[in-house]
Amino acid sequence: MLTIDSLSKSYGKKQILNNISLSIEKGEIIGLVGENGAGKSTLIQLLATIDKPTSGSIILGESNYARHKKEIRKQIGFVPQELALWEEFTVKENMLFFEKLSWIRKSTGELKQLCLDMSLDKWDEPVHTLSGGMKRKLNLAISLIHDPPLLLLDEPTVGIDLKSRKEIGNYLQLQAKEHGKIVIYISHDMDEITSLCDRVVCIGEDPFYEEILAKTGTELIVF
Ligand SMILES: Nc1ncnc2c1ncn2[C@@H]1O[C@H](COP(=O)(O)OP(=O)(O)O)[C@@H](O)[C@H]1O
Ligand SMILES: [Mg+2]
Repeated sequence: MLTIDSLSKSYGKKQILNNISLSIEKGEIIGLVGENGAGKSTLIQLLATIDKPTSGSIILGESNYARHKKEIRKQIGFVPQELALWEEFTVKENMLFFEKLSWIRKSTGELKQLCLDMSLDKWDEPVHTLSGGMKRKLNLAISLIHDPPLLLLDEPTVGIDLKSRKEIGNYLQLQAKEHGKIVIYISHDMDEITSLCDRVVCIGEDPFYEEILAKTGTELIVF
C-alpha cells in the first residue's frame, strides 16, 4: 500500500501542492489529471523520490520515504515526461545498458520478453528509427527491468498513435490486475483515463474534469 499523508510542496513562496492525503491499494490504477502547471509532475516527482515534500509524509509498504530512500528507490519504476534513451543504440542495446544500471539481473531473453509483452518487437532496430509510440514503450520497458511494485508514469501516451496507446493501456491493466502493482499515471486523454483508472485524482478544482468523470461514474478526488 502507498500512503500519502498531508503532503504539501512549495517552491519558494509559491505553494504547488496543498495537503494531499491518499491511500492506494495494490492493484489500483490511479489517474492524475489537472490543467497545465497544476502540479501533476511535481506530485509524481515527490513519489519518485526526485524531489522532497515541504511537509507531510509518504509511506510505501513498510518504508517511509524520509528514512528509507534507498529501499524505496528499488521499488519504483518511473517514466519521466521526457524520453531518456540512447538514440543510436538498438532496442536490445538500450535494454542491456539499463539492465546493468539496475539492481536486479535479467537475462537477454527476459529483457526481450519484457519488450514483447508491450508489442515492442523491433529488438535489433536503432532507437532513432522507431515511432514515438515504440520509443514510449521502450522507456516503459526500461522502467520495469527491476520489476517494481510501484509504477509512476508522466504522460506515457502523449502524442502517440492509438494502437500503441491501447497496447500500453492493456499492459498497465495487466500489471495492476494480474501482478498487483500500483500504477499512477498522468494523462490528458479522458477516454483513456475513464477506461483504465479505478480512481482519478485532480490537482486543483476543475469543472471540466468533474463533469466528464461524473458521467462515467469514475471516482474523483480533488486537491
Ligand atoms: N523546480 C521548480 N522550481 C520552481 N518552480 C517549479 C519547479 N518545478 C515546477 N515548478 C512550478 O510548479 C508548478 C507545477 O508544475 P508541474 O508539476 O510541472 O505541473 P503539471 O505537470 O501539472 O503541468 C508550475 O507552476 C511550475 O512552474
Ligand atoms: Mg507535467
